[in-house]
Amino acid sequence: MSNSSSLKSLVGITDKLNRPVRDLRISVTDRCNFRCTYCMPAEIFGERYEFLPRPEILTFEEIERVARIFAAVGVNKLRITGGEPLVRANLSELIERLSSIEEIEDIALTTNGYLLPKYANELKEAGLKRLTISLDSIDEEIFKKMSGRPQGPANTLEGIKLATELGFSPIKINVVVQRAVNDHTLVDTARYFKGTGAIVRFIEFMDVGTKNGWELSEVVTSKDVIDMIGSEFPLEPVDPNYTGEVASRYRYKDGDGEIGVISSVSEPFCGSCTRARLSTDGKLVTCLFASGGTDLKEALRSGQSDEEIAEMIGGIWTNRSDRYSELRSKATDLYVGAEGDKVEMYYIGG
Ligand code: GTP
Ligand code: 5AD
Ligand code: SF4
Ligand code: SF4
Repeated sequence: MSNSSSLKSLVGITDKLNRPVRDLRISVTDRCNFRCTYCMPAEIFGERYEFLPRPEILTFEEIERVARIFAAVGVNKLRITGGEPLVRANLSELIERLSSIEEIEDIALTTNGYLLPKYANELKEAGLKRLTISLDSIDEEIFKKMSGRPQGPANTLEGIKLATELGFSPIKINVVVQRAVNDHTLVDTARYFKGTGAIVRFIEFMDVGTKNGWELSEVVTSKDVIDMIGSEFPLEPVDPNYTGEVASRYRYKDGDGEIGVISSVSEPFCGSCTRARLSTDGKLVTCLFASGGTDLKEALRSGQSDEEIAEMIGGIWTNRSDRYSELRSKATDLYVGAEGDKVEMYYIGG
């Protein structure tokens, strides 16, 4: 990768709301071995559903190249997502490639954990340091209901245990909270992980994509979650680890660790959103709620130089003014649900 002046001139670029680009979230596959009701409901994503054909999917070489260009213009944090990233063959090879990028200080992987017992070892060897595992409930039946699969949480829990033994740190557990679906199991889920070092984060159910039939009435606010857990295990707030941290942190007063809440609906955090997203097929998406993205794949495959692609990225970022969650929150009184086209979560990751 060259260090031309054109690339250097893009370091520190900010968007229209003065936000730099710091974090690149890379979706490596649109496929998943789960069918979470709020993400890829089984009745829509059946056997005949057509996922992206292979030639449309960025290769590891292409992903590494895009990551290097982003790193050169200011990104220091990568998150690998999907779909379910562990269903992509040889994912560890990608981790190894990305770990070698000098400017990247932090690489994390978001997974449903089902395949972790198989892959945790090689991911560690490839240089991955931390993991975020989605697990919506410790309750066998609720887990099955939400993940859309007949297996309970055993594999995911085994994966978390193995990852802890291997020294992944921190391990975060993402729980999407849906009223009347899993809200009665939150305390049990918190209890299961209390004292294990894993940080459970409770996420307000969001209106991402167009297929989950989101309604505001299904959102349990973070405040209610904190009250619920806090009445069983007393909690106190903790300062953020870094500016713009998505989760608000709380620790158990008895010293048994911490939890987090992610309030994208009740307290949106667009003001500090420094996240760019790369879809499985190479589109650069500047907001989780965008209706589409800009095709970088075409540029990558048509012989454009790193400088030209960096210019393209710079142009997109400097024009960015997305703040969907804040706008939705202002319009909440009128808001009845998803409107218009929005990209799906399994295509750009969370
Ligand atoms: P670290 O602090 O680096 O561990 O990551 P994180 O807190 O950003 O965690 P993670 O990537 O696991 O995000 C957790 C959840 O927060 C996602 O699954 C989304 O539901 C939500 N989230 C993350 N980024 C955004 C965002 O840019 N916009 C909105 N609205 N929600 C987000
Ligand atoms: N609302 C909130 N979080 C969601 N996720 C997926 N869909 C939603 C939604 N509608 C979370 C998953 C996972 C991460 C990738 O995004 O649970 O932790
Ligand atoms: Fe798969 Fe994650 Fe979507 Fe569930 S939320 S269907 S695990 S990509
Ligand atoms: Fe960023 Fe869009 Fe999420 Fe706001 S809604 S925090 S702009 S991704």
